[in-house]
Amino acid sequence: MCGAALCNVWITENGRETMATKSKKVAAKKNDGVVKVALLGFGTVGSSVAKVLAQSKFAGIELTHVYNRSVARKKESAAAKFVPATAKWTENIDDVLKSNVDVVIELMGGLNPTEGWLKKAITSGKHVVTANKQLIAYKGVSLQRLAAQNNVQLVYNAAVAGGVPVIPGMKQGLGGDRMQRISGIVNGTCNYILSRMETGADYATVLKDAQQLGYAEANPSADVDGFDARAKLCILSRIALHADLNPDEVATQTISSVEAVDFMYAKELNCTIRQISRAQLEGTVVHARVAPMLVPMDSPLAWSHGTQNMVVTSGLYGGDVVFSGHGAGGEPTAVAVVSDLLAVAQGAKSVELPVRKRQVTGEFMAPHYLRFVVDDKPGIVSSIAGALAKVGANIDSLLQKPGYPKHKLPFVVTTEPCLTSTIEKAMHAIGKLDCMLEKPMTLQMLVADDTAE
Ligand SMILES: NC(=O)c1ccc[n+]([C@@H]2O[C@H](COP(=O)([O-])OP(=O)(O)OC[C@H]3O[C@@H](n4cnc5c(N)ncnc54)[C@H](OP(=O)(O)O)[C@@H]3O)[C@@H](O)[C@H]2O)c1
Repeated sequence: MCGAALCNVWITENGRETMATKSKKVAAKKNDGVVKVALLGFGTVGSSVAKVLAQSKFAGIELTHVYNRSVARKKESAAAKFVPATAKWTENIDDVLKSNVDVVIELMGGLNPTEGWLKKAITSGKHVVTANKQLIAYKGVSLQRLAAQNNVQLVYNAAVAGGVPVIPGMKQGLGGDRMQRISGIVNGTCNYILSRMETGADYATVLKDAQQLGYAEANPSADVDGFDARAKLCILSRIALHADLNPDEVATQTISSVEAVDFMYAKELNCTIRQISRAQLEGTVVHARVAPMLVPMDSPLAWSHGTQNMVVTSGLYGGDVVFSGHGAGGEPTAVAVVSDLLAVAQGAKSVELPVRKRQVTGEFMAPHYLRFVVDDKPGIVSSIAGALAKVGANIDSLLQKPGYPKHKLPFVVTTEPCLTSTIEKAMHAIGKLDCMLEKPMTLQMLVADDTAE
């Protein structure tokens, strides 16, 4: 493999498919036309990549190295049978970095030591395929620059929405549009939890089920508190909005405070609740947020259930485009990784447009859903209305379901569109009222034509 690999073609020789090259320059590459591949990480995705490669038998591609710690343990796993007998298992990263492999597939995750190792791979002329969203969210711009300087490719289409080709779809298919906003469901764990809660289950039970099914980690914070989704949102913003954001500056809100009662009230409003990651560029500022939001039942975002992912892009010229499918799981993600490998092997370059460092704010102009749990006394509604009026927020509706005790009464107020910061100010004051038994809950309501301010 080399920078001139664009000349690679698939041909049939003597009835056998093989990868060949048209130019002498490529034909003289170091591995005689065979693309040698190293896997870093033999976990859920890494072992599935080995399986897909073994079963699909793509001609001209050879898995030559598998790097992982505790190799003896990995070699005993059921998936080890998919690793060719000729491949070298190793616990020494230098066996890969100092080898003649053409493509390093990184499926370990994390920032360290991964970033340093991938830099070494790139500077030694190896292409890199990775599914590592945290690494790409935080270090993607500098790694991409390094890859360009070294005339190799860095491809990460599996990093967002696993098996759903959102990144290549946006790069290749929508690169010609001027994207105005993106919104989506990019964390399958949260979608599993919230779409199960929609049918009446409570948060704690569903989280436990998600952990038993392997959808959620023992410590579910990265998923439920929105950190996983915000890394993905930053990657999508870079591609769609050409905006380089610092993930730490993107506002997040946990789904763990959403309760069954919120789904009941959401239903009254003809909505459901999903963890939404959204970003839009206004002038030079990106408005971005990852939070549970009320989603109208007629929005495609309301239709995604279980671990499904969905991303809706809105372009100036092309309008809305929806991507949806299995956002996670070893095999769906392996499909994205192997597709990246095939593209790199064939020298197919992705569209890269310049990105700019952008300021980010969590401010949106949107209607809001406010849920209070109070010890019911006369004058509560007027106190809440007064606090909202004081910041200039108008009430749109008030909902109170019967059947709750007066001493612990949940009820809901929805507002007309107002700024996030305006609502936060009012909720801060309302939270201090004596009658409030719990911290009031605020959810943005997603509407088709809402704006960022
Ligand atoms: N799973 C998904 O559905 C999915 C979807 C999209 C993207 N991704 C991304 O794909 C990557 C891999 O995910 P995964 O689910 O396959 O993770 P995983 O099951 O935890 O696999 C990671 C593998 O890498 C090994 N490893 C980690 N750090 C290492 C280190 N410093 N040195 C040596 N070996 C190391 C682990 O070894 P041990 O077994 O010893 O821990 C494990 O075998 C992550 O970046 C993840 O965000 C995953």
